[in-house]
Amino acid sequence: MPEQVSTTAVVLTVNGETHTESLPANMLLSEYLRDHLHLTGTHVGCDTSQCGACTVLVDGLSVKSCTVLAVSLDESRIETVEGLAGPDGLHPLQAAFRARHALQCGFCTPGVLMTAAGLLRESPRPSPTEIRAGLDGILCRCTGYENIVAAVGEAAAAIGEAM
Ligand code: FES
Ligand code: FES
Repeated sequence: MPEQVSTTAVVLTVNGETHTESLPANMLLSEYLRDHLHLTGTHVGCDTSQCGACTVLVDGLSVKSCTVLAVSLDESRIETVEGLAGPDGLHPLQAAFRARHALQCGFCTPGVLMTAAGLLRESPRPSPTEIRAGLDGILCRCTGYENIVAAVGEAAAAIGEAM
């Protein structure tokens, strides 16, 4: 007989929407987002904390969602790639990735975008070296790193000009 997993009550805010949930204690944040909320923009590439495709922001900090239990995030504010664009259109990161061809198959892109979004909040005008260091936990199997770094730099400049 399968072992019963206990559930825990949590309140999670995802892309500005508050969810009151009773979740299995062993549910990963990536599972919660993809399977429960159907926010499948968060990709799962390795499930072992290596590729970064599953990265989201939790209270403004980038987190690999395959490494954290959803029930541990009670009262947290979670942002996924689905919430990145605003009412006026693409986020500057998304616009720069499109303009710079900073994606090929696109599998890693949601995680790269969210990692970069967290980086630009901490460091609004990062140097190329700082961008590379900030994206260190991300693997792109298409290996388009040069364009990714350039796009993040362009987005930082665009955000700075708009302020
Ligand atoms: S799926 Fe989470 S780090 Fe690869
Ligand atoms: S664009 Fe294909 S894995 Fe990064």
